[in-house]
Amino acid sequence: MLLEKTVLIATEKPFSEDARNAAVKAMEESGLKVRILEGYKSQQELLAAADGVHALIVRSDIIDQKVMDAFPNLELIVRAGAGWDNINHIYAEQKGIVVEPTPGQNSNAVAELAYEMMLMSIRPLNGKKGNELKGKRLGIHGFGNVGQIVARLGVAFGMDVRVYDRFLDERKAKEYGVTVVTSTEDLYKNSDIVSVHIPSNNETNKSISYELLKLMPANGILVNTARAEVINEEGLLKVLKERPQFKYATDIAPTAETKAVMEKEFKDRTIITPKKQGAETDEANYNAAVAAAHQCCDFLNNGIVLYAVNNPLPNGIRAYAVLAQALGRFNKVIGGAPGKIELTCHRDLAKYKEQIGQYVLKGLFEEDLGRELTPTSARESAKERGIEVIYRNPDPRVLHNLSLDITYFDQSGKPYEISGRVDNGELQITRIGEFKQIIPIRPLECVLTEYAEQAGMADRIGNVFTQGGYNKANGGFRQNNQRDKAMVFFQVEPVGTPVKEVKAVVQDILKLPGVLNSYYVNMK
Ligand code: 3PG
Repeated sequence: MLLEKTVLIATEKPFSEDARNAAVKAMEESGLKVRILEGYKSQQELLAAADGVHALIVRSDIIDQKVMDAFPNLELIVRAGAGWDNINHIYAEQKGIVVEPTPGQNSNAVAELAYEMMLMSIRPLNGKKGNELKGKRLGIHGFGNVGQIVARLGVAFGMDVRVYDRFLDERKAKEYGVTVVTSTEDLYKNSDIVSVHIPSNNETNKSISYELLKLMPANGILVNTARAEVINEEGLLKVLKERPQFKYATDIAPTAETKAVMEKEFKDRTIITPKKQGAETDEANYNAAVAAAHQCCDFLNNGIVLYAVNNPLPNGIRAYAVLAQALGRFNKVIGGAPGKIELTCHRDLAKYKEQIGQYVLKGLFEEDLGRELTPTSARESAKERGIEVIYRNPDPRVLHNLSLDITYFDQSGKPYEISGRVDNGELQITRIGEFKQIIPIRPLECVLTEYAEQAGMADRIGNVFTQGGYNKANGGFRQNNQRDKAMVFFQVEPVGTPVKEVKAVVQDILKLPGVLNSYYVNMK
């Protein structure tokens, strides 16, 4: 008999009863066992419920390392909501636990709340005269599922809607009839009301600063139904102080100190709901809880991963994801913008080729985009750019170790080969272009130089390196098969204070006669 899998619905802030019952019903009907821990008051209660649980459904509950360590059988965490910043998804990945949100399920509830807050701010029900939304300039900061609904409603209200999103799909924005702006400065400067719809992460936290807010009109309104962390609270308080008409509305409480100041000094111009309320409608609860339930059924019964934001691989295979990402990063530096990628995963890696492919894409795009990508979003980025990933079957006549071969085609179709393996726990590049060069992949910077083979060339390149103030001792050298070209690689290791920046040293190397290419690769 198959092991019966158990799902724990652990919600500090419970779903509505209907939503929870529908979720339980869907899971029980598919053969899963369901346990419920609602309205719990301490993490201890959550830890105590850990035994025998294979999947967790949570809301804004904090799922950190301690919680994950307490759940010995955990395979999946579904966050019934849009963001996943309350879940340590990186630690989950290390433990082999899949993390999935339920994108889009409560977007409408959040968008409607944003309007409720706009209306309460612009036309409070206090017997006094107010203003209308019609004709006002609405700035939408973040054009994801919620931002898009806010845009549609803004147009319906007759507002002049502009949007900013770093990763904006312009085509989509046009369909909505909104103006796209290319900087947050432009957005805040030209909006009477700004509605925030960005996630909380290292890059966005505290990004809504004093400098940005003071660009808004003196009687500007900031509505935040996204995350408290994205606001620089000191900056916001300063603006509220300097601008006696500026207003702030949110359903995610700022820190206790900030909240106290707002309540004391700016009570008439701030709205802070007693609890986080964006997803607090029966409809949103129902949609998110039932979607979470179906995602648990898909995963636990059929191994289907729908919206994973991480990509756990089994123990011996995980290092190859890191390797794939490093190879993707090398490809980007050496081959430029990709047109197509062909990937061969040898031996047992073949089973995980799609996941490994996503890590190659992560390595390719992450640096350019300047943000962390989930494996799934890396795949989406490739799709948006029309980059095709082809999974080749290994040649059965050739015996390979566990290793990866990537052929990377640039925009003009020119191929570039790169291969890698994990040797005794060390991640290595084993081939770059026509060179069978072994380069250990460590969190380091290195300079790779290709040149037309001639006596003393590696030394001359090394000397430029030394003159720049770097140690040339750590590196390697390899000729191609025809022995007419070679590649030398140096690890960037300054001797004392370097005389030159490493990128300037690369420029000097490129000036040497016979050098074909020189690249700086940062693997940190
Ligand atoms: C979301 O990410 O969808 C919202 O933050 C909802 O959170 P909640 O379900 O904890 O209210």
